[in-house]
Amino acid sequence: MAVLNVIDRSGERHALETVEGWRVMELVRDQRLGLEGVCGGACACASCHVVVADEWASRLPPPRDEELTKLDELPVLEIHSRLSCQIIWRDEFDGLTVTLAEET
Ligand code: FES
Repeated sequence: MAVLNVIDRSGERHALETVEGWRVMELVRDQRLGLEGVCGGACACASCHVVVADEWASRLPPPRDEELTKLDELPVLEIHSRLSCQIIWRDEFDGLTVTLAEET
């Protein structure tokens, strides 16, 4: 099974089981690691903000304008910030590592 690696806000690393077609936000939220996903994936809240590991940033589908607009509203943004609700899991992402952004 393809694995999603998540680094939580205390720096602890978690290897999560994945389901093809699920949003990364859903995969993380269901493990209660502190990622809320308030809007349920509607790209309206940014509570699913994660930072994608450098080596993965260019291997994911690029963000759409809607996601970029929402990210721009965040007070703190990293170069590889993404909204995890906009990343739909594919098994080819096996080993993807994301870090939960600080809550804003
Ligand atoms: S869950 Fe609200 S923007 Fe991602």
